[in-house]
Amino acid sequence: MGSWTIEQTPSIQAEITVPGDKSISHRAVILAGLSNGTCVITGFLPSEDCLCTANAMRALGIEIEQPEPTTLIVHGRKRQLSAPVGDIDCGNSGTTMRLLAGLLAAQPFKSRLVGDASLSRRPIKRIIAPLTQMGAKLHAEGPNNSSPLVIEGGELHAIDYISPVASAQVKSAILLASLFCKGKSSVTEPLQSRNHTERMLSWFLVRPQVEELTVSLVGEQTPESRDFRVPGDISSAAFWLVAAAAKPGSHLLVKNVGLNETRTGVLGVLIRMGAHLHEVVEIEEGEPSGAVEIRGGKLKGTEIRGKEIPNVIDELPILAVAGALASGVTVIADAAELRVKETDRLAAIVTNLRAMGVQVDETDDGLQIHGGTPLRGARLSSFGDHRIAMAFAIAGLFAEGETVIDGVECVPTSYPNFFETLQHITRERQSQTRVIESLPTLEK
Ligand code: S3P
Repeated sequence: MGSWTIEQTPSIQAEITVPGDKSISHRAVILAGLSNGTCVITGFLPSEDCLCTANAMRALGIEIEQPEPTTLIVHGRKRQLSAPVGDIDCGNSGTTMRLLAGLLAAQPFKSRLVGDASLSRRPIKRIIAPLTQMGAKLHAEGPNNSSPLVIEGGELHAIDYISPVASAQVKSAILLASLFCKGKSSVTEPLQSRNHTERMLSWFLVRPQVEELTVSLVGEQTPESRDFRVPGDISSAAFWLVAAAAKPGSHLLVKNVGLNETRTGVLGVLIRMGAHLHEVVEIEEGEPSGAVEIRGGKLKGTEIRGKEIPNVIDELPILAVAGALASGVTVIADAAELRVKETDRLAAIVTNLRAMGVQVDETDDGLQIHGGTPLRGARLSSFGDHRIAMAFAIAGLFAEGETVIDGVECVPTSYPNFFETLQHITRERQSQTRVIESLPTLEK
């Protein structure tokens, strides 16, 4: 089992980029594979999760070249896939399993999706229910409707689905299945989840209609092959943004990061907490992207709940750490979804924050974090969850004494070079000679 040892660091002065967006990378490789020609995807995230999706598409007959780790050349086959030989391994990736379930439900062959122990514990019924309503034949082999997932595959019919859960994975699975159906399908969510599938369908000239919380799509359309540039992942940037925001005297510039409005909730939360933060959208090509600049200061507690939750769902572990570093109480509510992520993230956050000396109360769907007391270095577990490992590595930068994070081999599922960036950022402090280019309009 791999471990990291983290020590307290003074202020952070750095200019960085972060690896490609995970959600967008999955979708790019799937839609390019369904398109009518060759697509070059740049900025692809070569993490274990996204490579599972690329390998799954290869197993379905799509030729994919990878001339360098972040570039894929995908040869689309006009929505024609071939039956896979053997199981499709989704590894730790919920996005791979759920998106592919939608795609495979509509194919004229049988397939079986398997995952690691963590993925095999996660709920899949939320996918089985709508796809079954579309006429699909799916069967969860694991206990309590969990994977392996066997998909018979066959002709589906269009659906108007009212989803009980705000989940981009559920929405995307239905949209991918709908692409193969006659007529128009729609998905309505209770709250807005990330809209990368809708945006990417539009980029590939399959135009979904979006009206408030409903997305509709006319089926039997083939995506037009186009190149796609994946921006940096704001969920990965969030770790560094919190580190810089909470350290007085820090200055961090993150360049080429995705600034999709359904993902930037973390910036709004940090601003509410008192962060000196500024974002500029520079490119609008399929997905908006640009730069975020942040100056460190003192943070104060806030409330994160309701419709903001899907927008910050992956950032809640690091925002909980921000809450521990802020003065006053930070409340996270309506976030029961955290219990069915790669681990029960609410329980993992509580265990690790308490080990660092933070007073935290756990509710069914959230936390109350009493921030502002100095963090104590401790030996912590990742609980096999990449975002827990990275969030608490950042906490370690603020703690008195050494922090050890055990079980860090899960981190490359989303952020292969996280530890190198951590070393780079903390090393920068020793020679603070580096000049950081500021965004033009940030007041100093
Ligand atoms: C994702 C959607 C979210 C998110 C996950 C990636 C996606 O999950 O937590 O990391 O790419 O669609 P849910 O759809 O379960 O909310």
